[in-house]
Amino acid sequence: MASILSPILSALSWLLCLPWKLVHLASGFLHALKKNLSDPYFVDFHSELNATSGEHHQSQTEWINMGYWKETNDFPTACKALALKLVQVAQCKSDGIVLDVGHGCGDSLLLHLEHPSIPRPKRLVGITSQIQHYRRALERTSVRNPGDSVDMCLTHGDAVYRGDTPSHPLDAKTYEGAYTTILALDCAYHFRSRRLFLEQSFKCLAIGGNIALGDICFAPGSLSLTTRFMIALMGSMPSENVMTTEEYVAMLRGIGYVDVKLENITQDVFPGFVTFLKGRGLAFGILASHFERLVSRGMLFVIVSASKP
Ligand SMILES: C[S@@+](CC[C@H](N)C(=O)[O-])C[C@H]1O[C@@H](n2cnc3c(N)ncnc32)[C@H](O)[C@@H]1O
Repeated sequence: MASILSPILSALSWLLCLPWKLVHLASGFLHALKKNLSDPYFVDFHSELNATSGEHHQSQTEWINMGYWKETNDFPTACKALALKLVQVAQCKSDGIVLDVGHGCGDSLLLHLEHPSIPRPKRLVGITSQIQHYRRALERTSVRNPGDSVDMCLTHGDAVYRGDTPSHPLDAKTYEGAYTTILALDCAYHFRSRRLFLEQSFKCLAIGGNIALGDICFAPGSLSLTTRFMIALMGSMPSENVMTTEEYVAMLRGIGYVDVKLENITQDVFPGFVTFLKGRGLAFGILASHFERLVSRGMLFVIVSASKP
């Protein structure tokens, strides 16, 4: 009798638990969806973008930024140009300690290891939020750092230190005053929040160290309710990061940074990026049109730099 009842009872208990299992599954799904909407890079679209001239051969590069299109109409070349512009503004020092935040698949890290115009750092540290990007960056940098000549340390995690990531590069207990340069290429507008990231970076910069960001902000007076609504539709820029150029500069000065500079390079970024995206199919075209509308409403791409006195 017991042997007949046992499978019936276990089937019944499985059925009784089913609603809870479904609730658990749905809440896991919603959590993942929310997380991924705030960091849209979970979809592997960079190989599509890096495949040059529409030929889908394996590309050597895995850039994911919006590019600096002044002298090119090629995506990887524009991305590299933007990265080089940022490094130039940051005035990286030979034998310095560089932190590259939001490095994605690691192309900007490779520039520090190999590019002839960039002084070789003593130590190169990185943190990026997508696990698959982190793994690619780890893989690519480990084979292109002969003899481990640069001391590398990459971490998977959020740019903002929240006490839950071991050896987080912005944990001030370990890294106060550590970095000669901090770089954030086309990513800080995603952070929760950019201000918190800039405050933590200030603590962890060495005296005389520089921070440089390729970032998005807005023209003074452009932040109407409609514009804010359109930014919110993108789902990838928390509202606390939506600010004008004036507010951005004031925030940096308020934190304690000096020598604050903000260069508006919108015309060399968005038009080229939008034209490029429009040639890559419907989904990218829709994104491009949304960017275009936001640019006409005052969205700017800026290079921001500042120092710790
Ligand atoms: C536009 S991509 C730029 C990637 C890289 N800098 C490049 O130029 O190829 C933004 C990167 O920032 C990362 N990111 C977004 N939010 C982040 C966060 N809160 N903390 C760390 N990285 C983040 C994304 O996963 C993505 O790799």
